[in-house]
Amino acid sequence: MKVTKDTRVLVLTGAGISAESGLKTFRDAGGLWENHRVEDVATPEAFRRAPVMVWNFYKERWQQALQAKPNPGHLALAKLENWLQDNFHLITQNVDGLHTAAGNKRVIEMHGSLHTCFCTRCHTRFPMKDINLEEDIPLCPKCKGMLRPDVVWFGEVPYHLDKIDALLHNCDVFMVVGTSGVVYPAAGFVMTARYFGAHTIAVNLNPMENSEFIDEFYQGKAGEILPRLIDEWINSADK
Ligand code: OAD
Repeated sequence: MKVTKDTRVLVLTGAGISAESGLKTFRDAGGLWENHRVEDVATPEAFRRAPVMVWNFYKERWQQALQAKPNPGHLALAKLENWLQDNFHLITQNVDGLHTAAGNKRVIEMHGSLHTCFCTRCHTRFPMKDINLEEDIPLCPKCKGMLRPDVVWFGEVPYHLDKIDALLHNCDVFMVVGTSGVVYPAAGFVMTARYFGAHTIAVNLNPMENSEFIDEFYQGKAGEILPRLIDEWINSADK
């Protein structure tokens, strides 16, 4: 596939791209869902039932994200955006903020962010760093309502789906990186993009659940494959 400055590239990333930054994925051996049940920490019911436990899980993950640094996979995507500008968009299921830290600007965080929280009563959003996390259940500085992590839980609707839908209908290349392809709606994006004419590429350590919709598959670590692939695109477009 030849990619030039006029190619509209849409990327979808999952936890695998941050694995080389030291953050756990969900479903690999030793992943987050091995030690935590989804129903205990990642549903609105869990938060109603046991808010302290849910908050502890996300406080810890926020601390881990703060310490993590973008790896060569993230940096390669920042280089790609710098080259393609408005022809580049990045949808991420990750909540760690590492794409923004790497320099990407056109980032859609469809599952929210560990770096913000919002009030369950007045819905105001706050940066986590401005909140007193010593409290078991942090309270809203404005209305004293209960704050919650700004992360989309199972049973909730992901953010920015309208914008994502428009991008899926209007891209030439759709590239999926480091996601197992089991969580919907993100797992269905590759099918939509392909149906509307995109060439589909995947970079993943292992074959994915939805691999029948992938035209070009690169098996291995994102931090090793993406820098090579993206440099190849940029260098051969200049020729
Ligand atoms: P998963 O843990 O399900 O999948 C991570 C994928 O990354 C696996 O297919 C791995 O093989 C692959 N992988 C691991 N290391 C890699 C590396 N260095 N380079 C490339 N690939 C690598 O994580 P997600 O697919 O992101 O949702 O999970 C999707 C959603 O499920 C998450 O956003 C989260 C979770 O439950 C919510 O919390 C709503």
